[in-house]
Amino acid sequence: MSLEKTYPKEVKQILAKYPPEGKRSAVMPLLFLAQREPGYITKAAIEDIAQILDITTTEIDAVITFYTLYHQEQGGKYRIQVCNDLPCALRGADKFLEDLCENLAIKVGETTPDGAITLEAVACLAACNNAPMFQTQGPDGIKYHENMTVAKTLDLIQTLKHAGKEAE
Ligand code: FES
Repeated sequence: MSLEKTYPKEVKQILAKYPPEGKRSAVMPLLFLAQREPGYITKAAIEDIAQILDITTTEIDAVITFYTLYHQEQGGKYRIQVCNDLPCALRGADKFLEDLCENLAIKVGETTPDGAITLEAVACLAACNNAPMFQTQGPDGIKYHENMTVAKTLDLIQTLKHAGKEAE
């Protein structure tokens, strides 16, 4: 199913924000739209957007891989994206991530068996002074969590799982 068929109004609204000669600038909002339902961007969506914007799939791939807000694979209901860039690493982010992996019994990039959490390592999220820190991405949007400990994170995960059950 094409993006224009699934979200005709939204695609039209997005494209209306850019002049025809600059329509390639609509790539980010279109990607975000394509990701809305499945939680990641499918190959078909990439080809679809390339056709709509008259750009190559390689150019779209470059955008997807640069930004942590776009996903190429199905993940858990929530993504926990821990910054382990150098400033955060100096404040213990690597150890935090390692301990979190151990507690969740998964590796970075993996999803918990219940499908609730995908753990990822990402580059700077602009909260370096408050590491260890991460952002969560889920049904409630994107949220920052700073000065975190493993214990606080495990509590948060329980809260997220509980909130997910209430919403079902
Ligand atoms: S280096 Fe981690 S938030 Fe900036």
